[in-house]
Amino acid sequence: MSNDKPISVLFVCLGNICRSPLADGIFTHLVNQQGLAHKFHIDSCGTGAWHVGNPPDPRSILVAAKNNIDLTNLRARQFDADTDPTEFDWIIPMDTANHRELIKQGTPTAKVRLMRSFDQTITTKKSPDVPDPYYGGDDGFDKVYEMLMRACKGMLAKAQA
Ligand code: 4NP
Repeated sequence: MSNDKPISVLFVCLGNICRSPLADGIFTHLVNQQGLAHKFHIDSCGTGAWHVGNPPDPRSILVAAKNNIDLTNLRARQFDADTDPTEFDWIIPMDTANHRELIKQGTPTAKVRLMRSFDQTITTKKSPDVPDPYYGGDDGFDKVYEMLMRACKGMLAKAQA
């Protein structure tokens, strides 16, 4: 990164209570660990409005806390098609459905990258989505955490390249 303007990153899922707040917390944690907080502006949102103003799902809070990451201050907000596409450099949907929705709402394709495209350990064509753990059991959240950690590491490496 040659200039001083922070890279702004927006993680996007459906409800902004399970996957994207966890991605937000993990990426913030990695950035802080490496002393790079001043180089990034990090946020998350949902394409849906059901949970606006709510804290993350307790299962996301728990899996983050097990890994020394605190999500309790985050609050859900909805994607804003008027401001978010100009305010953020990288807009990172968790799955193909949210990717489609962002494009449908006019987000420039060049800014939108699927979360798992940063995971260097998988073939993204076969499994492009971070699965929605909302209706599943708690182990879904452990799997999503591991997936998000791998993708966040890949994203941080790419941002520094
Ligand atoms: P998220 O999970 O998109 O990862 O936050 C969901 C949370 C809530 C709902 C759907 C997905 N919902 O339908 O309320």
